[in-house]
Amino acid sequence: MSKNNTLDKIVSLCKRRGFIFQSSEIYGGINACYDYGPLGVELKKNIKELWWRAMVYENENIVGLDSAILMHPKVWEASGHVASFSDPLVDCKVCKQRFREDEIDPKKWEKRQCPRCGSVGSLTEPRQFNLMFKTHMGPVEEESTLIYLRPETAQGIYVNYKNVLDSSRQKIPFGIAQIGKAFRNEITPGNFTFRTREFEQMEMQYFVKPGTDEAIFQEWAQRRMEWYYWLGIRKEKLRYRQHGPHELAHYAKMAMDIEYEYPMGWKELEGIHNRTDFDLSRHQEYSGKDLSYFDPLTRERFIPYIIETSAGCDRTVLTCLIDAYEEQKLEKETRIVLHLDPKIAPIKVAVFPLVNRDGMPEIAQNIAKSLRKTFSVFYDDDGAIGRRYRRQDEAGTPFAITVDSQTLKDDTVTLRDRDSMLQDRVAIGGLEEELKKRIWKTK
Ligand code: GAP
Repeated sequence: MSKNNTLDKIVSLCKRRGFIFQSSEIYGGINACYDYGPLGVELKKNIKELWWRAMVYENENIVGLDSAILMHPKVWEASGHVASFSDPLVDCKVCKQRFREDEIDPKKWEKRQCPRCGSVGSLTEPRQFNLMFKTHMGPVEEESTLIYLRPETAQGIYVNYKNVLDSSRQKIPFGIAQIGKAFRNEITPGNFTFRTREFEQMEMQYFVKPGTDEAIFQEWAQRRMEWYYWLGIRKEKLRYRQHGPHELAHYAKMAMDIEYEYPMGWKELEGIHNRTDFDLSRHQEYSGKDLSYFDPLTRERFIPYIIETSAGCDRTVLTCLIDAYEEQKLEKETRIVLHLDPKIAPIKVAVFPLVNRDGMPEIAQNIAKSLRKTFSVFYDDDGAIGRRYRRQDEAGTPFAITVDSQTLKDDTVTLRDRDSMLQDRVAIGGLEEELKKRIWKTK
């Protein structure tokens, strides 16, 4: 299967089954913005919940935050985004197309040759193009009312670090976690939801004593990789990549990407950064507020270093979909199946009556109703049973229950496993426990 072909197939499955749609599609769509449909919103919600659980609930020294998207404009001066969060752009004077200078073939760039129309000497000198979306606060549109949509959630955490410290009685080392939208006017968005202009981040900022930062950085790099394994992503498709000195962002002393092998090659899924005391020192300087920390044990005062784990939520959803996708050649047909880990699957169990008579639909409806208290359940009585299984295979539903003629005799049903397609007979009364065991892989 060719590589882009795979991404095209994911895009088409996402639309067909209701995972992800192009934003504003009936108006021709808007570039690099996407909407999550009924199955997509469940998948994304499950991933966010599992991240929150792993970061906040399972660590007594990490707490949550939900800060505003709109922030004081000085935040972005202090953070360095106004000065440095930009790409170098060149314009072609002939075809009027715009390109990133660093993406033009150096040989063409020497001749100032345009990549699209081929004209020689037609490219302008590069100009820095800031990636932050701008808007105005209040009714007057002038320089003094200019504000930005946040390009990362991290800054909302830094400016609240003192508030959280004072109100939650944490001591260093401690962390603040946040999930929220970020916006970037990307020059080269693409590859479906891999790079979009509106996206969600899952970021955790860990405040540490200088000197302990390097060991803690390594620890988080490892823990974050393990989280992706736990999410069910294949180990051989994941790797680390350490940034070289010339690639480091303006705030980072050290950066490590967790990369996934996408159909378009190895690319970043999450970044782990050692941001040193850059952010808090800059916010202290620009706000005039003391952001130092007094360590009661060593009786020292210092500006904490920050180790950041920064994951893209949409990119994790896409990664799970790509990793789970399989076309299986069976004897008479090709089965498309999403092997999503049951923990993240949008629908946990489908319930079917084998036929629409002999009281089977009523029994199946009752089973669906009682399981709905615990799981997301889909009831389907439409079409041949094989077709119903296939639809759920494509939706990534890990389990399917079928009420058949034997159910009428002994109150048992078949429980089908999506991956092996094997069916076991289970008593109706034992379904909930059995499903819990299979979803959470407990004995
Ligand atoms: N606070 C640090 C920060 O924002 P980043 O490497 O620019 O670091 C972190 O972004 C993560 O956010 C990336 O690894 C990626 O998963 C996600 N991300 C960044 N830009 C994105 C975009 N345009 N579309 C989708 N996800 C994006």
